Amino acid sequence: MTIVLGIESTAHTFGIGIVRNGEILSNVKKTYTTEKGGIIPSEAGKHHRENKEKIYFDSLANAGINEKDIDAIAFSQGPGLSPCLLEGIRFAKELSEKLKKPIVPINHCIAHLEIGKITGAKNPVMLYTSGANTQIIAYSSGKYRIFGETLDLGVGNFIDTFARLIGVGFPGGPAIQKLAEQSKTYIELPYVVKGMDISLSGILTNLKQKFESGKYKTEDLCYSLQETVFAMLVETAERALAHTGKKELLLGGGVACNTRLQEMCRIMCSERDAKLFVPPREVLVDNGAMIAYLGEIMSRSGIKILGKEIEKLDIKPRQRTDEVEVDWKD
Ligand code: ATP
Ligand code: FE2
Repeated sequence: MTIVLGIESTAHTFGIGIVRNGEILSNVKKTYTTEKGGIIPSEAGKHHRENKEKIYFDSLANAGINEKDIDAIAFSQGPGLSPCLLEGIRFAKELSEKLKKPIVPINHCIAHLEIGKITGAKNPVMLYTSGANTQIIAYSSGKYRIFGETLDLGVGNFIDTFARLIGVGFPGGPAIQKLAEQSKTYIELPYVVKGMDISLSGILTNLKQKFESGKYKTEDLCYSLQETVFAMLVETAERALAHTGKKELLLGGGVACNTRLQEMCRIMCSERDAKLFVPPREVLVDNGAMIAYLGEIMSRSGIKILGKEIEKLDIKPRQRTDEVEVDWKD
């Protein structure tokens, strides 16, 4: 029996999850939010520092275990914002020293994909759409590869920026979705797919000009934003399914909470005889349980860092999904 604790701290969220034999025992998190403006990395780091102890003890209590029961400590090594990642690695090292247990460094994006398998998906293409990240990831020839991604903004950040402009606050996704549901009037927007990649900054500029001209209803702009951008995501995800020959699409990241995006993916999947998997909200958004979950798989296959090696361990703010050596799969 193994019990693994996972620490997530790449961006807004500080989370600690505990997993035993693939079962999530607890998943506690707290998210730094701002009234106005985007994330200030040093402030988010401070938020994580101030909340980590409480989140740790709450997570242990929810799991009903003693800290001495923990066999390994996993943490998000990257990609993410340095001040936030640093809080995670410091806490991981602190716990490792106190409990005399090994550390397992985790790639945040791959953790999103692996936790998705609790839905029953076996070998999926993942459409991962969060604040900072927008990628289509699938396992192929020994690595997790990025089949397509955004060339500029992450879809969540794009939506949040527009939400700020129209004054509906952060996070913008749910508010934009509500407004979009009140319209059926499509206003033409640029549609920017380049090969397997998408680009969002031109669409943002166009939306901004349209909003500021005062000629359009906000609901119509929100509706058109969703229809256009989600169609771009669905198109590239479909091509990744066709290219890899896989038959499962898995969603990940906070934007996947959007029911219109889910619906569009479901239609595409049914048209090509593929199956759609949507994990529950608690594991779609950033969370510690996904880090613990992948941490358990990796530590079982012998990937753990001990003793002197721990000193050399560092964060990887720009780590790429396909940089990770996948030694834990057969
Ligand atoms: P990272 O990019 O490192 O994964 P994050 O904290 O930005 O981190 P998540 O917690 O996965 O990412 O997701 C947050 C994003 O999800 C926000 O941009 C938010 O607006 C968006 N979001 C949440 N609900 C919805 C929704 N219903 N529709 C669209 N977007 C949504
Ligand atoms: Fe994420």
